[in-house]
Amino acid sequence: MSAIESVLVENRVFAPSPATVKAARISGMAAYDALCAQANNDFEGFWARLARDHVVWSKPFTRTLDESNAPFYKWFDDGELNASANCLDKHMGTPVENKTAVIFESDDGTVTKTSYRELLTRVSQFANALKAHGVKKGDRVLIYMPMTLEGVIAMQACARLGATHSVVFGGFSAKALQERIIDAGAVAVITANYQMRGGKELPLKAVVDEGLGMGGCESIKTVFVYQRTSTACNMVAGRDKTFTQALAGQSNECAPVAVGAEHPLFVLYTSGSTGKPKGVQHSTGGYLLWAKLTMEWTFDLQNTDVFWCTADIGWVTGHTYVAYGPLAAGATQIIYEGVPTFPNAGRFWQMIERHQCSIFYTAPTAIRSLIKLAEGDSKVHPDRYNLDSLRILGSVGEPINPEAWMWYYKNVGHERCPIVDTFWQTETGGHMINPLPGATPLVPGSCTLPLPGIMAAIVDEAGHDVPNGVGGLLVVKRPWPSMIRTIWNDSDRFKKSYFPEEMGGTIYLAGDGAVRSADRGYFRITGRIDDVLNVSGHRLGTMEIESALVSHTALVAEAAVVGRPDDLTGEAVCAFVVLKGARPTGDAAKAMAKELRDWVAKEIGPIAKPKDIRFAENLPKTRSGKIMRRLLRSIASGDTATQDTSTLENPAILEQLGQTW
Ligand code: WT7
Repeated sequence: MSAIESVLVENRVFAPSPATVKAARISGMAAYDALCAQANNDFEGFWARLARDHVVWSKPFTRTLDESNAPFYKWFDDGELNASANCLDKHMGTPVENKTAVIFESDDGTVTKTSYRELLTRVSQFANALKAHGVKKGDRVLIYMPMTLEGVIAMQACARLGATHSVVFGGFSAKALQERIIDAGAVAVITANYQMRGGKELPLKAVVDEGLGMGGCESIKTVFVYQRTSTACNMVAGRDKTFTQALAGQSNECAPVAVGAEHPLFVLYTSGSTGKPKGVQHSTGGYLLWAKLTMEWTFDLQNTDVFWCTADIGWVTGHTYVAYGPLAAGATQIIYEGVPTFPNAGRFWQMIERHQCSIFYTAPTAIRSLIKLAEGDSKVHPDRYNLDSLRILGSVGEPINPEAWMWYYKNVGHERCPIVDTFWQTETGGHMINPLPGATPLVPGSCTLPLPGIMAAIVDEAGHDVPNGVGGLLVVKRPWPSMIRTIWNDSDRFKKSYFPEEMGGTIYLAGDGAVRSADRGYFRITGRIDDVLNVSGHRLGTMEIESALVSHTALVAEAAVVGRPDDLTGEAVCAFVVLKGARPTGDAAKAMAKELRDWVAKEIGPIAKPKDIRFAENLPKTRSGKIMRRLLRSIASGDTATQDTSTLENPAILEQLGQTW
């Protein structure tokens, strides 16, 4: 039986234990159904109540939802708030004030604990430093930081001033950085001299210098440099300031700047099916509401929990479930600088034990790689660690295959801990479809049911609902508070990408295929329907990688990139390349493949490196000249038997395309 078939016939069901149900915030399916009914019966009233209960408004809103300019929806539009005040100031004078906000563990295992009071002080002081260098409400600030507390402080400090941050993952290239700085029109960069990963010191500031040196970044006035390590880095006089220099003499009090609910809290770049990465713009009010609320709903967060989301702040998961959600909810959270396999693959389990983690949220790719390593070496098996503190497990970023789900459930959760498989996207701001730990019976490989108020559905191309058991397009029929507001600088692309005219222009198209089970109506995500790949939970556009390859004009004539299934990374990048010179074979092909991989790493980042590169004299095209991507996908996955090649103009190249280097 293939993996796909085993998913389709999946009939194992794991209901939460009576004790889990009893203690939960949303206790049992009846409570879930009641919330859904409230949302169905009085949609705006439902959201208004939640927004009043969960967000501190400096000026209360009177309008809940404005649909007059759909799909440019506005939520709580005339209300005012500050995101940082909602994460920090609001806890002052409460028992949370002296609670540990962040347990930070560095790459080398050094642990520091920071209370909410201390975090407020540090954020305020850094906000004052930004202010002293001219950063103000409405400016954009680019953040290129390691996974450290200072990264979160930088984000919170921007939010405190009403400056819109744009975090770029530390693995992206100088070129990617430059493109984002230009598109966002950023006034400052916050970075570090180096980052520490797996015992290695990797440059960040040098990459910033290289990006700024590529030109077009004149908007940047200041580069703030956190000295993560003692190694010196280049500093440009007048432009670059170390954190120590910038913070010197700054007061540790800074009044939060109130902004309108729709004010852009951040712009986060992500890959689409065409063109350059798009700057997904999020609001302040609606986003913050959902960040806080989903902490409580999805993770059933309680006062005593120790929460750990392993995502980097460079991704949306690290925004919502590291930088904002846990703080808005008053949680104690773990932030870890490094990689899961350093100094060995027991690191996650060891940290759960050391810090008594109770809610653990990670990606299927990490789980799959740790399974493989644990099975090869009993010393790093979770059995070797005391994981009794765990009570809830989470999964995010890509479909989790039932085999990995079962291993996670048994070996990490000891069959006690519900697994919340959370489906969502950069664009959705927070969770969309996932179980509630004290309510929803779990089915491995299924993200189960939409959260209350999220009107998810599966439709055909014309927007009509399909019956359970029939696959279709995943859509959301009504707006929700944390949804994308627009694509920065490109409102046209926003409309075209997400709100297809054929469906009326107001329904959100997620870009994923999905199917609901016949018995329970549970959702299962079947994968992207566009040219977006998901490699180890990282989102990559095939067009972006193609553009990177053909930009090597000296060598490459033509390139096509597709994804193929990969046991470890979910999908892998496979590139078909036609060179300007002769088709290489043997060692020459190997050398050429390496050169092109390095080129892609330089253009985009190492995460975009093609795993396979195949050289051919031509690409398979139809007689009208269209590249046959479906055929390439079959070839990449090693299965050509089922493909109709009758329209193929040059069938002889098929054999060439099958050869990897
Ligand atoms: C794409 C979004 C979720 C935040 C981090 C990734 C895929 C995400 C799941 C899941 C199946 C999932 C989808 C989605 N995806 N979570 N639980 N089950 N697929 O955000 O980089 O914007 O990627 O990741 O294909 O569209 P992102």
